[in-house]
Amino acid sequence: MLLQAYLFLSCVSLVWNARASAMVVITAEGYVRPVEVGVYYESLCPCCQSFITGQLASAYTEAPELINLTLVPYGNAQTTKTSRGYEFVCQHGPTECQGNKIHSCAIKYVQNKMQLLNYVACMMSDESDPEAIGEECAQLTGIPWKPILRCSRGREGTELLKSNGDLTEALGPEMEGVPAITFDGKLGDQLAAINNFWGELCKHFPEPKPAKCLTPSYKTFSLHERLQGGTDGKEHSSEKLWKKRSPFEWNTKYTNCTK
Ligand SMILES: *[C@@H]1O[C@H](CO)[C@@H](O)[C@H](O)[C@H]1NC(C)=O
Repeated sequence: MLLQAYLFLSCVSLVWNARASAMVVITAEGYVRPVEVGVYYESLCPCCQSFITGQLASAYTEAPELINLTLVPYGNAQTTKTSRGYEFVCQHGPTECQGNKIHSCAIKYVQNKMQLLNYVACMMSDESDPEAIGEECAQLTGIPWKPILRCSRGREGTELLKSNGDLTEALGPEMEGVPAITFDGKLGDQLAAINNFWGELCKHFPEPKPAKCLTPSYKTFSLHERLQGGTDGKEHSSEKLWKKRSPFEWNTKYTNCTK
């Protein structure tokens, strides 16, 4: 079944690539191309934490085929070029810059987007030492930590964060706050996107909507539940720890993402 779906999707994307990129492809089977979703955020902003661990992670878990996700960690940081290379000032201080670099490196090194999003959401549930939580979440989500650590401590992490800054500054109109969410490259109603991500996402599909969009909301999965199927099928020792900081807590803690 999965293999069939995969072959089917590859066929569609071949057709898709051959045509004008602004075209929406709807096949007889009702396959619709995914909406391009950009999430511009920074690692320590409370609303970014609640959005990513809650609305975004749950929607993606429910319908990864409807979302082509691009994460851009940088947010309200500033970059300066010095004789020593690029330096950053982050809204929530150096810890945030360090976290943003780890996220940037994970984005480069983790190819599976579900695994990547689980990793980022896991990291965002803890504000303490980014390297400690980065390692713990790598174990929990089954991804190799060493390449990410090496990248984040070195020039590679610096370059990746710099280019995330360039992407953030290239947003037009300029974002008003973080997280900033784009659908098909455009910044729309940010409050709606943050507080009703699923509803806004579904607006971007033409009729007939994907069947999943006929459901006005969806189940909220905790990371724990998302990992139950398991990235490697094993029970993880850190799960107890994770339960203490489930996305539900974040959701209740930061329900007010107002600008
Ligand atoms: C998702 O976006 C990337 C570029 O960001 C593109 O290369 C890829 O083809 C897109 N995938 C689909 C299924 O549209």
